Amino acid sequence: MSQCRRAKITALGTYVPPRVLTNQDFEKTVETSDEWILTRTGIRERHIVEKGVATSDLALEAAKCALAERGIGAGEIEAIVVATVTPDMLFPSTACLVQHKLGVKGIWGFDLSAACSAFLYALQVGAQFILSDTHKKVLVIGSDVMSSILDYTDRATCILFGDGAGAVVLEPSEDDNGIIDFQHEVDGSGACSLYMPGGGSLHPSSQETVEKKMHFVHQDGQAVFKYAVRKMGEVCETLLSRNGISAQDIDCFIPHQANQRIIRATADRLGLKPEKVIINIDRYGNTTAATIPLAMQTAREEGRLKKGDLVLLASVGAGFTVGATLLRWTI
Ligand SMILES: CC(C)(COP(=O)(O)OP(=O)(O)OC[C@H]1O[C@@H](n2cnc3c(N)ncnc32)[C@H](O)[C@@H]1OP(=O)(O)O)[C@@H](O)C(=O)NCCC(=O)NCCS
Repeated sequence: MSQCRRAKITALGTYVPPRVLTNQDFEKTVETSDEWILTRTGIRERHIVEKGVATSDLALEAAKCALAERGIGAGEIEAIVVATVTPDMLFPSTACLVQHKLGVKGIWGFDLSAACSAFLYALQVGAQFILSDTHKKVLVIGSDVMSSILDYTDRATCILFGDGAGAVVLEPSEDDNGIIDFQHEVDGSGACSLYMPGGGSLHPSSQETVEKKMHFVHQDGQAVFKYAVRKMGEVCETLLSRNGISAQDIDCFIPHQANQRIIRATADRLGLKPEKVIINIDRYGNTTAATIPLAMQTAREEGRLKKGDLVLLASVGAGFTVGATLLRWTI
């Protein structure tokens, strides 16, 4: 038997919690306006969990949807990679909790931390297991409960994020369709531009870290914005040029949803027509590891993503982490 050359996505499932927090809701709690949020970010509303609902709960729902779409039981999955920056706990890993909640035994898994690029990184890690022929079915999940690490009195950060999850099943491709290539980069010089300082080994949780609000997201918005605008386009250009592909060949561009202005600037730089660019930040905000699978779902629902389409995925996140993936859509 010939070894498979590519891994492919064979199912997609997504989940967002039912509770919605609108821009108008924020007008009542912090000094902001629907108009400011909409024009600066493109966000109208985001979904937020109820107290007691964790990242593994959202991940589980998305995983169940993906398994149902593929028509298989959880028992057929061999490994689970959970991309998240808001694990239920520092340990055990959220992947263990998802495995247990799925009710399967004898499989393995782990979490992958790369903030807003984590789904793309996890997708590639899962793909490598398929390519090495050690696994036939890998579940890759992006799930984040950003509301658990936001300071809802800080208007500059709390309006940006939402909660959600997305999952895909990865399997070997019998042909040239599937994940074609990727370009990833990290740049730790940007660590102080977007981070959560408290609760780790550097600043273990204490009364002092809580009083200083170190358990919340801290961000230099403009620094992140400038880096994201530059790097998202750059990484896509590198990937496209290495594969001899022009932006005109791309059928669907699915970027991380951090800010509509970042997405539009990237699309303009690449010369992508607006109809090829998927934007759903208005409905979900920035759900960190979940934005790309949620945007894949939106693209399908809107009839803008079809089997055989050439798809470009791109992300920039805390770290900094940067990623781009080229694939031929297979479902
Ligand atoms: C956060 C972000 C929307 C802020 O937009 P901006 O145009 O850069 O705004 P600035 O930070 O320059 O702030 C401009 C003013 O708006 C104010 N402001 C911030 N948040 C506000 C809000 N929700 N409502 C009203 N005013 C707000 C600021 O206090 C500032 O006021 P000042 O001029 O009196 O100091 C933007 O920087 C951004 O999207 N950055 C990237 C963030 C990101 O993507 N993070 C995740 C990466 S994966």
